[in-house]
Amino acid sequence: MIGNKKSNVQIDKEQLELIQNAQKRIKQKKRLYIHFVVFLIGSVFFILLNLVLGFGEKFKIFETNWFVFAILAWLFLLIYHTFNVFITHKFMGKDWEQAQLEKLVAKQKQRIEKLSETLSINEETNLNESKKKSKLSSNLTIIAAVAENDAIGKDNQLIWHLSDDLKHFKTLTNGHHIIMGRKTFESFPKPLPNRTHIVITKQNNFKVPEGIIVVNSLNDALDVAKKDSQPFIIGGGEIYNQAMQIADKIELTRVHKNFEADTFFPKINSSIWKETSNIYHKKDEKNEFDYSFISYIRK
Ligand SMILES: NC(=O)c1ccc[n+]([C@@H]2O[C@H](COP(=O)([O-])OP(=O)(O)OC[C@H]3O[C@@H](n4cnc5c(N)ncnc54)[C@H](OP(=O)(O)O)[C@@H]3O)[C@@H](O)[C@H]2O)c1
Repeated sequence: MIGNKKSNVQIDKEQLELIQNAQKRIKQKKRLYIHFVVFLIGSVFFILLNLVLGFGEKFKIFETNWFVFAILAWLFLLIYHTFNVFITHKFMGKDWEQAQLEKLVAKQKQRIEKLSETLSINEETNLNESKKKSKLSSNLTIIAAVAENDAIGKDNQLIWHLSDDLKHFKTLTNGHHIIMGRKTFESFPKPLPNRTHIVITKQNNFKVPEGIIVVNSLNDALDVAKKDSQPFIIGGGEIYNQAMQIADKIELTRVHKNFEADTFFPKINSSIWKETSNIYHKKDEKNEFDYSFISYIRK
């Protein structure tokens, strides 16, 4: 039974390449060897032709028989051939090609990293410039309710219900521009009264009820809100992330519990943000978790 089975040897691509390379090398060396043998025979033949058979006896260059120059010229070709097989192969073979390719790729990677650094610096500069254009720019305020683990939302919804936090939000933002991402806007059952909504989206024909302002960038949102003494950034995660670089204040409701979430608030860096007030509230019948109202200003 065993004897009937054909052995099925598998050679992977790398092994095959190695074998092909080895075969190529053997062929190159074989050709060089043949060249060497032909050179020896040829040289003897030239000498016999000239000295024994008298061919071109009278043809001399600098008083030297022609076969000397013929042999020297051939020797030069043989040396060149040898050089190609042993030296050029080493420096410009597959390894050399691979090393050059790796160098090139590393250089391109460096360039891409530099470009993306420049891009993000430009983006930040644009936002700051847009802010500078606004006369009342020192009050751009982020407002957010954030869990201990920085969770802010799940399945495009808030995760908790804190009655006092909603009142706090209403009091602070009342009469102001509220700037939000398209997803946060879509999470509202209806627009909030007595606030100017600015919705950021990349979409060109995003449909909204009358009175809602749609813009295509945070820059444009700030421009629309430039007359407001305190425009608010009200979320969600994507917009908070972008606005953290330029906001002047953060009004944070810290909910003292961890939650499972798909959207998170960015880390508040204490070397950039200074806490100016912190008021702790215990949970009660209307607020199911302990929470704190914390204010920060940019240092
Ligand atoms: N706890 C809180 O205080 C709080 C507050 C607000 C929201 N939330 C929660 O946060 C979650 C939503 O946040 P999210 O991060 O998923 O979405 P989001 O920030 O509300 O909106 C993201 C969308 O905004 C648009 N956008 C973002 N950056 C843009 C830019 N630079 N230029 C143009 N358009 C831009 C894009 O809209 P297009 O795709 O249409 O282009 C993007 O898909 C929800 O769960 C919500 O309940 C929590």
